[in-house]
Amino acid sequence: MADKGSEGKNTLSIRDNRTGRDYEVDILEGDVIRAMDLRQIKVDDGDFGMMAYDPAFTNTASTRSAVTFIDGDKGILRYRGYQIDQLAERSTHLEVAYLILKGELPTQSELDDFVHEVTFHTYVHENITDLLEGFRYDAHAMGMVISGVAALSTFYPEAKDVHDPSARWQQIIRLIAKLPTLAAYAFRHHRGLPYVYPENELSYTANFLNMLFRIGTRDYKPSPVLERALDILFILHADHEQNCSTTAMRVIGSSNADPYSALAGAMGALYGPLHGGANEAVLRMLTRIGSVDNIPDFMDRVRNREERLMGFGHRVYKAYDPRASIIKRTADEVFEVTGRNPLLDIALELERIALNEDYFIERDLYPNVDFYSGLIYQAMGFPVEMFPVLFAIPRTVGWLAQWEELLEDPEQRIARPRQVYVGVDGRDFVPPGDRG
Ligand code: ACO
Repeated sequence: MADKGSEGKNTLSIRDNRTGRDYEVDILEGDVIRAMDLRQIKVDDGDFGMMAYDPAFTNTASTRSAVTFIDGDKGILRYRGYQIDQLAERSTHLEVAYLILKGELPTQSELDDFVHEVTFHTYVHENITDLLEGFRYDAHAMGMVISGVAALSTFYPEAKDVHDPSARWQQIIRLIAKLPTLAAYAFRHHRGLPYVYPENELSYTANFLNMLFRIGTRDYKPSPVLERALDILFILHADHEQNCSTTAMRVIGSSNADPYSALAGAMGALYGPLHGGANEAVLRMLTRIGSVDNIPDFMDRVRNREERLMGFGHRVYKAYDPRASIIKRTADEVFEVTGRNPLLDIALELERIALNEDYFIERDLYPNVDFYSGLIYQAMGFPVEMFPVLFAIPRTVGWLAQWEELLEDPEQRIARPRQVYVGVDGRDFVPPGDRG
């Protein structure tokens, strides 16, 4: 029961029916109680005390954060207070990156300096290209980029100085700058094409497209529509508060590991099909369904829980993911240039059915960011293996901002959850010959 205690603080009263004792715990800003306040609840003095059991952290706040706000019921997403649709419409990815990292939108000169810094750190050491050369021709791009990011830590030993803000900033710039280079090299490796070095006078996304798609000519010019569409997709993916990969970044960062190692770990978490690998899984699903005629059979399997409708559902959004509606609009602009992706009809029909059917309505299952992004990426010429990489490039910004916040937060210590032990009690070792 929540109450105003004697000192005017909001408190929660807890009665332990095992002992008949009553406890008062403070309710803090954000309607949270400190899990450690439960520890005083004991049956007797030798008791360890009460813990909260929360597999998958569905109801546990692990931090106070000022980076990203989500209201999942209303479908609201804001970075540092700015509404996502305004940023997607009026800003650029690097401007949003500055906002997310520093907390404020940059002035023109701050933006120019930031863009300059990022642009001039795009090259990777030639030994990194040798490392990437060592992969098989069909290696998954995400595995290659994760390895490249982890390898970067060995090139910048000063990155271990995680308590020095200027050393941190240097690594932040390097990571934001080099991710597209690593990603493009992985793509070219897969194609058996020579790597294209970064061109510093191009925009962040134009340079990326140039490194990916330029063949045999120096005057390749990416379509401005595709350059802008990719920039919008990057803005939409830049941060999303305490999701699986960000939590991985924070957990690894909490041991004071260098940011390259932590970011490689976060990328590993992103890779899974339930998270950033979902856009790849959506495309594979749409391709497998093959035609609108096969949708009824497929949906039967979803209703019977033999399949998941990939690109639907979200732990936090219980409404239309605001990023999905922006992506849907962007898709129309991209298809004007690339031609319509034939899988779009299947996607639209799946969405139409899902938004009208009880199974999905009852479970608040709406399209998430991954449902339409893969269709755009495919139309732009990316193979599905590049999709999670295209997620990781912009999310690098969010991971790093959250890592900074963690290191500046005096309340944070090494992450170390508790467990409820359910294994066998203590027993004596028996030699192999005596085991029954
Ligand atoms: N298709 C069919 N049923 C689903 C789906 C789906 N995509 N997602 C959830 N459900 C059902 C579950 O079967 C469950 O039903 P039940 O209550 O009858 O058992 C109910 O909805 C709740 O699902 P949970 O798995 O408990 O929800 P949770 O919050 O744990 O998972 C998740 C969220 C992982 C995103 C889930 O919705 C999912 O697997 N979606 C498909 C994968 C996907 O698109 N991931 C991308 C997420 S966005 C991102 O990471 C960038």
